[in-house]
Amino acid sequence: MYNKRICVVGIGYIGLPCALLLAQSGCSVCGYDIDETRVSDLNAREIKLEKELRDIFETEEVQKNFYASTMMSRADIFVIAVPTPINHDKKTADLTALKQAVSEVAAVLEEGNLVIVESTVPPITMRNTIIPILERHGVDISKIFLAHCPERLLPGNIVQEIVCNNRIIGGYTKESAELAADMYRTFVKGEISLTDDKTAEMCKLMENTYRDVNIALVNELGEVCRALDIDVNKAIDLANFHPRVNMLKPGIGVGGHCLPIDPWFIHEVSPYNSTLINAARHINDSRPGKIAAVIRQYAASDISQKFMLLGKTYKPETTDVRESPAMEIYNILKNEGYHVSAYDSEIDTDQCLMEMIPECRFIFVLVPHKRMMQELEECLKELKTAGKECPAVITF
Ligand SMILES: NC(=O)c1ccc[n+]([C@@H]2O[C@H](COP(=O)([O-])OP(=O)(O)OC[C@H]3O[C@@H](n4cnc5c(N)ncnc54)[C@H](O)[C@@H]3O)[C@@H](O)[C@H]2O)c1
Repeated sequence: MYNKRICVVGIGYIGLPCALLLAQSGCSVCGYDIDETRVSDLNAREIKLEKELRDIFETEEVQKNFYASTMMSRADIFVIAVPTPINHDKKTADLTALKQAVSEVAAVLEEGNLVIVESTVPPITMRNTIIPILERHGVDISKIFLAHCPERLLPGNIVQEIVCNNRIIGGYTKESAELAADMYRTFVKGEISLTDDKTAEMCKLMENTYRDVNIALVNELGEVCRALDIDVNKAIDLANFHPRVNMLKPGIGVGGHCLPIDPWFIHEVSPYNSTLINAARHINDSRPGKIAAVIRQYAASDISQKFMLLGKTYKPETTDVRESPAMEIYNILKNEGYHVSAYDSEIDTDQCLMEMIPECRFIFVLVPHKRMMQELEECLKELKTAGKECPAVITF
């Protein structure tokens, strides 16, 4: 029976599911967070969670084994899952929260403890940043265990992803990796691969960079095709008949909390070796401006025409608007004085698309949530049946 005392530092999107699954498997888990409201809401069970996670939260084991606190506690294992955002101006990782969390852990660390970093970090952060902080607090690194275990889960399907995804565990020493693997095996059904800390740090960043660069490629091809009056989607479908080609489709840009950020963490530590990564980031970041330019062409000379943008989130089937290209497009057009409105079926649950549509000349679909596309189809059908003029629908 695995029944360690575990302190999960940062109980947000990533830390909380991990904490609850560990509690469900019999560990005694403290979820430590500096956000007092989040801690009290969690202890009062007044927190919005995906259904599967709520079910786990309400199990007897979790109610018995998990509590949230704003006080750091002693533990056998510390799992750090605090935010590592980007400094937008310099395009470098903002490690303020991570450094603070490591200092707080250092203050209670005991010989034989294991510290796992789940936060996404630039390569070599364990060796260049975390270990020096621990040493400054008097920790003897040879007497503790350290691992970097990046998280691959996608909000929207949290439980399935955290349990079934394959996992990489990077130990500062081999023993550290093995101890961390023992902890994850309590709930992970995916394959667990052991490596060293710096490979694990790099691996996480490479995964998201791979996606970002591939998206940039098709976005760039989309621009070329537009200039040459070629239908890029048709061209990609045909190109994908090649047995070793599998291109994505162009989109309105790249959003969320990982893809637009993580490639910069590689660029930060090795700028001269990452020109492609840098170019891809710029291509994807410029995409909302280019989509806004296409929309502008529909308005031609008449800025008073009413438009509607469908979708605000950074991708379909989520309510997450962090780094959302759709919001960027909306803000560009709004600031230029266009009569633009936006609707998102996953966010604006108190609004009705049908009431907004008849006013509009054009509808631009930016984020095709399944539910919203169905709603749109029904609205257009209703307008047609009533013999009313339908707005033109343009999809990106
Ligand atoms: N959200 C994702 O889908 C995702 C996926 C993979 C990796 N990641 C990475 O996981 C890490 C955490 O991301 P998240 O989405 O869970 O963030 P989040 O903002 O949802 O949660 C982080 C929590 O940490 C708390 N916190 C901040 N500073 C703290 C401190 N010093 N001590 C204790 N608690 C502190 C915050 O109050 C917050 O509740 C980031 O590095 C992120 O890049 C996130």
